[in-house]
Amino acid sequence: MLNHLIEFIARTHLVVLHFPIALITVAAIIESTRLLHIKLTRRSISDHFRPSQSASIILAFALASTLIATTTGIILGFDETTAVDLHRILGIASGILILITTIALLIALKKATHKPALVYLAFLCTSALAVSITGHLGGNLTHGEGFLTDPLKQIFNSSSPSSFDSQSDSQPDTQAQDFNITPDALETYNTIIQPILDYSCTKCHGPKKQKGDIRLDTLAYLLDEDFAMIERGDPEASEIIYRITLPRTDEDAMPPLKKSHPLTESQIESIHSWITTLTP
Ligand code: HEC
Repeated sequence: MLNHLIEFIARTHLVVLHFPIALITVAAIIESTRLLHIKLTRRSISDHFRPSQSASIILAFALASTLIATTTGIILGFDETTAVDLHRILGIASGILILITTIALLIALKKATHKPALVYLAFLCTSALAVSITGHLGGNLTHGEGFLTDPLKQIFNSSSPSSFDSQSDSQPDTQAQDFNITPDALETYNTIIQPILDYSCTKCHGPKKQKGDIRLDTLAYLLDEDFAMIERGDPEASEIIYRITLPRTDEDAMPPLKKSHPLTESQIESIHSWITTLTP
């Protein structure tokens, strides 16, 4: 019961995190445009640039939501098996930066000169940058690395076909023979199975990380007898089926409970029946 409550609180990280990103950015935009406006209207910065009231209120809310986001983030990552990553380091650093920004704001409000206000603005913009980078790295954690940028890479590399295209384009029949599976099974693999694995598994079992020393990003790895992931024709004896059908709370369950994208019933069913079609 307490466990579930803690898990719930930890997961609110994924909701709360949006507030610091948006609020800090908005505060930075307000203050920067005010400074710009003073410059454009050729007024004296030393006479006119002071922290704005609206940005100060936004920063107060940003600070509060940052404290919650950092705390829930630390709880969420607490019993992670992976080492402390850049997202966590930057997350905590951003929290500290926003705290310093708030202190800089308080000083700037007290001193009625423009220099502390400029220091505050510098910290505010640095915080906005740090929070955005942290958010992006966090996005990579939940959606898989390159989730955002991969489609762009596809556009610029369109001359070199993606691995997916090259697999399905290069004479499927010979490929099927190489792996000793039917062309139908190969087709199902390319269109249904690999996309499921790409979405839920390959960020930990792919080119970048090989957790448990296995890879699930190509058919060759999936069928590799050394890895023993799949028992052809016998899903019940296949390690991969065992792992994805364990109760979600079992610590051997895949993908691990803490990470998103557990497989749906129908995805499990697809993998299950695909293995049935493979002849030993
Ligand atoms: C967040 C990272 C992560 C994701 C996502 C993930 N795994 Fe894992 N996986 C691990 C870790 C860590 C281990 C090693 C610890 C263990 O054996 O339980 C592991 C081990 C395994 C093993 C056992 C390997 C062996 O040595 O026998 C299998 C099978 C497996 N994962 C399958 C999957 C499948 C299938 C998916 C997608 C549905 C998946 N994993 C998604 C982290 C992940």
